Amino acid sequence: MKRDFLSLLDCSRDELQAILDLAAELKAALKAGREQPLLRGKAMAMIFEKPSLRTHVTFELGMFQLGGYPIYLTPNDIQLGHRETVADAARNLERFVDLIMARTFAHETLEELARCAQKPVINGLSDLLHPCQVLADCFTLFERGVNLRSMRVAFIGDGNNMAHSWMNAAARFGFELVIACPSGYQPSPLIFDRAHAAGGRITITGDVMEAAQGVDVLYTDTWASMGQEAEADERRAAFLGYQINGDVLRRASADAVVMHCLPAHRGEEITDEVMDGPQSIVFDQAENRLHAQKAVMVWLMRQVA
Ligand code: CP
Ligand code: NVA
Repeated sequence: MKRDFLSLLDCSRDELQAILDLAAELKAALKAGREQPLLRGKAMAMIFEKPSLRTHVTFELGMFQLGGYPIYLTPNDIQLGHRETVADAARNLERFVDLIMARTFAHETLEELARCAQKPVINGLSDLLHPCQVLADCFTLFERGVNLRSMRVAFIGDGNNMAHSWMNAAARFGFELVIACPSGYQPSPLIFDRAHAAGGRITITGDVMEAAQGVDVLYTDTWASMGQEAEADERRAAFLGYQINGDVLRRASADAVVMHCLPAHRGEEITDEVMDGPQSIVFDQAENRLHAQKAVMVWLMRQVA
């Protein structure tokens, strides 16, 4: 039966661990120069309603390295829901390709694609969730030997798609997550309730220093996500102080790592000093998008086979 990857909650803990193990194998094979044509002859449509650097490059390159063929579709090309319905686009694409990856505004667009296409759909970011990023982030910690069950993570900033996927990861892997955000910008209560019901140990606070106290991982993201450009000034005022800087870093555990999904807005949610400092692993995260997503693609195709 086909499976989709719209949320980390679509997979069990064991399945996510299997994907992380596969990512480690694929990464080692690539570094050793061994070919990995696991998706030879397969094709993937990549639909983008929003801009991208990392997601576009790593999915396209990942499919190429696996021997498959990626097809990049800009918002202008298919105009999902405008030129034709999402359902009709899905019913066409499923006849052509083996996988569909989409970056959308509304999460419902992804859900409709997944409902209407008989092929696996991967969430390359929606307004609600960014599971591929947090999977790559967990892979980055896993390969450093961090224990995903017992670590403590602080997410500083907006209760957005990244915060939501971290909440889902906490539910699946078992670690403790503290989210520090200003009032009015808390995560969705629905996502919180679901993650909590699934076993997530999650606290939400307004206090950055309290959140950072003794944690193993400090994480942040932009104050204004794609689609919120018009709110940027208002958000800049609301988020003042929700920044990972030297003072916040000193609150964390001495060997804490600093993470950011990127793109970063230096001087806003993170300072240069921290982002370019020895505890920052932001570019390892970016690299690992490639390996983690290759594992997702291979794993999804194995469920179909
Ligand atoms: N982190 C991330 O998804 O980056 P892009 O928006 O550049 O794809
Ligand atoms: N929250 C950000 C993440 C970018 C990778 C956004 O949605 O724009």
